Amino acid sequence: MKYQTLKKTDLRISEIGLGTNAVGGHNLFQNLSEADGIEFVREALNNGVNFIDTADIYGVGRSEELVGEVVKEFKRDDLVIATKGAQQWLEDGSVKTNNRPEYLRAALENSLQRLQLDYVDLYYLHFPDKETPFAESIGALARLKEEGKIRAIGISNVSLEQLKEANAHGDISALQSPYNMLDRSAEEELLPYCVENNISFIPYGPLAFGLLGGGFTKDTKLDAQDWRNSVPLFQGEQFGKTLETVDKLKEFAAQKETTLPNLALVWLLAQQGVDAVIPGGKRKERILENIQASDMSLSKEELNFIHNILINN
Ligand SMILES: NC(=O)c1ccc[n+]([C@@H]2O[C@H](COP(=O)([O-])OP(=O)(O)OC[C@H]3O[C@@H](n4cnc5c(N)ncnc54)[C@H](OP(=O)(O)O)[C@@H]3O)[C@@H](O)[C@H]2O)c1
Repeated sequence: MKYQTLKKTDLRISEIGLGTNAVGGHNLFQNLSEADGIEFVREALNNGVNFIDTADIYGVGRSEELVGEVVKEFKRDDLVIATKGAQQWLEDGSVKTNNRPEYLRAALENSLQRLQLDYVDLYYLHFPDKETPFAESIGALARLKEEGKIRAIGISNVSLEQLKEANAHGDISALQSPYNMLDRSAEEELLPYCVENNISFIPYGPLAFGLLGGGFTKDTKLDAQDWRNSVPLFQGEQFGKTLETVDKLKEFAAQKETTLPNLALVWLLAQQGVDAVIPGGKRKERILENIQASDMSLSKEELNFIHNILINN
């Protein structure tokens, strides 16, 4: 496993991290086995992955609790734990985005309790709330950093304009945005800004939320409650087109004697500004496959070949 430095910190993160929205994330995926979720995290930590991504909203706290159970079996200093706040769940079951400083402080305290930790290494503002100025929300996170409750500040789901405002004082170490072979919109503005401004770009949905796992066919149907129904790549005509591209990528992966998910991960790691990927999943067998991507590389010719497949998507 190769490790990279999270920008503006001395934290070393494994290039292959772990996404845990399906670890106890019952609000996002149905019928999850929590025992499998625990095994998934443990398998990753036992195999060189030290960068874990969770959020308070995953399973409305349950993902953090399960991650916390496993993390305490390992040496704290070796791990880089990232979580996110700003999604306030209300008693009626609805979720409100809240960036108020007092709310963020309380949300972090609750996350620390669930994770059974004194600090988190990276704390992301999960979504902007459109009301609170970034000077206030990021200012609140900067104070939490001074107090030692977080080591670095991240942000997610923002436009370039919002990112610039949030990073006005250079506080942001990491941006988490959607980016994968099938959705390259981050390359237009966000990724170049991160490269120029010393921010680690951490793509979410690195396997296009499962499409680049290679198991989808035109007959695959998501559960009605599955949040991925809202992702355009899974919808209508685009879904069919996507599967054609996936087939071409699979063919190329086979020629290279690798798998499509590994090709998708190493392709992301080859992009300047991407310091780690955080593939998610529900099964521990995924881990041993996905970590192999860190041992791979792509030549300039191979990157060009892939580019030509992708521009025709
Ligand atoms: N900041 C945000 O707003 C935001 C939004 C979304 C996600 N995230 C974070 O990003 C992480 C990654 O995104 P994601 O989990 O949604 O999507 P993803 O990593 O692109 O895809 C996950 C899917 O890929 C499948 N998969 C993983 N490894 C595979 C392999 N080797 N072969 C075949 N299939 C494989 C998993 O299948 P199985 O389920 O069958 O194992 C799962 O369905 C999340 O877990 C979360 O931590 C953040």
